[in-house]
Amino acid sequence: MEIIVQPTYAQLVAVSAEIIRDALLKKPNLVLGLATGSTPIGLYEALARMHKTDGLDFSEVITFNLDEYVGIPPNHPCSYHTFMEMHFFNAVNIRPENCHIPQSTAVAHEEFCERYEAAIVDAGGIDIQVLGIGKDGHIGFNEPSSSLGSRTRIKTLTQSTLEANAPHFGGVVDAVPKMAITMGVGTIMEAKQCLLLASGESKAEAISHAVEGPITAEVPASVLQMHPRTIMIIDEAAAWQLKRVDYYKQVYANKQKLLSQGH
Ligand code: GLP
Repeated sequence: MEIIVQPTYAQLVAVSAEIIRDALLKKPNLVLGLATGSTPIGLYEALARMHKTDGLDFSEVITFNLDEYVGIPPNHPCSYHTFMEMHFFNAVNIRPENCHIPQSTAVAHEEFCERYEAAIVDAGGIDIQVLGIGKDGHIGFNEPSSSLGSRTRIKTLTQSTLEANAPHFGGVVDAVPKMAITMGVGTIMEAKQCLLLASGESKAEAISHAVEGPITAEVPASVLQMHPRTIMIIDEAAAWQLKRVDYYKQVYANKQKLLSQGH
């Protein structure tokens, strides 16, 4: 795992946007796995700016979102469909037919989940999966105890996740849907590269468990230790509980040095 520690959220955003821009310039039909939550908003804004000012082209990009709440319509103001349109899709030249988000209804969900997995495979697999992390170490909506081999399915959200997401529902915990459809941990692990972003002190414990703790279903993000190409980009506040933070900074500094020397 590569751990990139940046002083601020703005710098974390800049580094992650550059990684996606460079990948997109190399592969115009990049397949992106996308996350919601407040953490990736800055990344989407940065990519939208690159589109507007430098003409970064998303016309051939295909996207698959990690998850969606069950039981609210796609046009609900708090749905992840609405979130993605507002924060990203409407701001770039992506084709609506290339954007995939799990459906927000539980009707025939098993068939839907199978089709979602098949669509990812048909697209050639996910090149870069953007991830956030929950305070309890969840990725997507794979709550603690999720099978590390799980596939796209319905999950019940924990009380901690309901509370964390309540601010998006007017602060009312009861208004947050209790279930969601989410890519599984196994689905996420098949992405060619994972880019996990974490910002703020509230994520420090989850990050320390995910990076330096044992691999366990209790902390679903810890499975990324087994992923061959995961980059975690975190700010100082999210990094403060890491024991080897100086080493991670040294690794990154050395890599930058080699790159600047043309290696
Ligand atoms: C939700 C999403 C996750 C996201 C997490 C953290 O649970 N399903 O994909 O990583 O929230 O969100 P935030 O970035 O707002 O802390």
